[in-house]
Amino acid sequence: MTGGGDIVLACRDLSVGYERPVLEHVDLSIGRGEIVALLGGSGCGKSTLLRTLVGLLPPLAGTVELFGRPLYELPLDDRNRLLARTGTAFQQDALFGSMTLEDNIALPLCELTRVPAPVVAEMVRMRLALVGLAGLEHRLPGELSGGQRKRAALARASILDPELMFCDEPSAGLDPAVAAGIDETLLQFRAVLGITLAVVSHELESIRTIADRAVLFADGGIRAAGTIDELSRSRDPEVFGFFHRVAERPRGPASIAT
Ligand SMILES: Nc1ncnc2c1ncn2[C@@H]1O[C@H](COP(=O)(O)OP(=O)(O)OP(=O)(O)O)[C@@H](O)[C@H]1O
Ligand SMILES: [Mg+2]
Repeated sequence: MTGGGDIVLACRDLSVGYERPVLEHVDLSIGRGEIVALLGGSGCGKSTLLRTLVGLLPPLAGTVELFGRPLYELPLDDRNRLLARTGTAFQQDALFGSMTLEDNIALPLCELTRVPAPVVAEMVRMRLALVGLAGLEHRLPGELSGGQRKRAALARASILDPELMFCDEPSAGLDPAVAAGIDETLLQFRAVLGITLAVVSHELESIRTIADRAVLFADGGIRAAGTIDELSRSRDPEVFGFFHRVAERPRGPASIAT
C-alpha cells in the first residue's frame, strides 16, 4: 500500500481481538516518514489493533512485522529492543498522577537508558518546549488542562526519539485551536525528529492536515484505504458516511480548554 521503500510496519492477514476477533484479515504497511490515519467508528477496533501493534496483545492470527522483523516470533529481549524503537501515546494519557511532568517524561529515559541525570533534565526541557509546554516541568498532571496532558503524553511517547510513533486520538475532545496545536506538534515530530506516525483520529480537519494516507476500519476489517482525497471522493456508503458525517460536525466539543 505504500509503493515500496523502507517499510517500518507491516501487518499480514492479521486478526486482533480478545475471546473473539475484533478485526480480521488486516493487511497494512507503513513506510518510513509517512503519517497514516487509522479511522473508523467507535468500537470498531482501532485501539485493539494498536495494542497488538505495540506488543501488548498477541494476534489471534497473522503477523506483525516491525522494522522488517516478526514482532511476536522474537524472544522477549529482542521484542523489547524492537519496541524501544517505537513510542505510543495511548487514548487515555496514562501519566502518573503523583509524579511531576518532568519525572513522567523522563521515565522512559531513566528506565531504558543510562543517560546522566543533568542530560535527562535538559532533554526533557527541550522536548517540553517542542510540544509547547516550556516551563511546566514541575507541575503535576492534575494541574494541567486536558490539552496540556495530551501534549505531555506526546512528549513522553517521543522522548526516546522513536522511529515510529502510535497516537490514539491525540486531539479528541479538544477545542479546535488546541487540536490544531496538537496537529502542528505531530507534523514537527516528523519534520524535526523524522518520526513516522500512525494516528487514530476521528477529527477530519486533523486528518486532512496531517495524514498522507488513511485506512478506514468497519465491520471487522479494512473497509477502504487510500489518500484522504481518494477516500473523500469514495461512493462506498461507509466511507462516504464517515467523511461527510465528520465534515458536518464542529471539530469537537470545546469541553477541554487549554
Ligand atoms: N479488554 C477487552 N476485553 C474484551 N473486549 C474488549 C476489550 N477492550 C475492548 N474490547 C471490545 O473490543 C471492541 C473494539 O474496541 P476498541 O477499544 O478497540 O475500539 P475503538 O475503535 O478504539 O473505539 P473508540 O473509537 O471508541 O476508542 C469493542 O467491542 C470493545 O467492547
Ligand atoms: Mg479507541
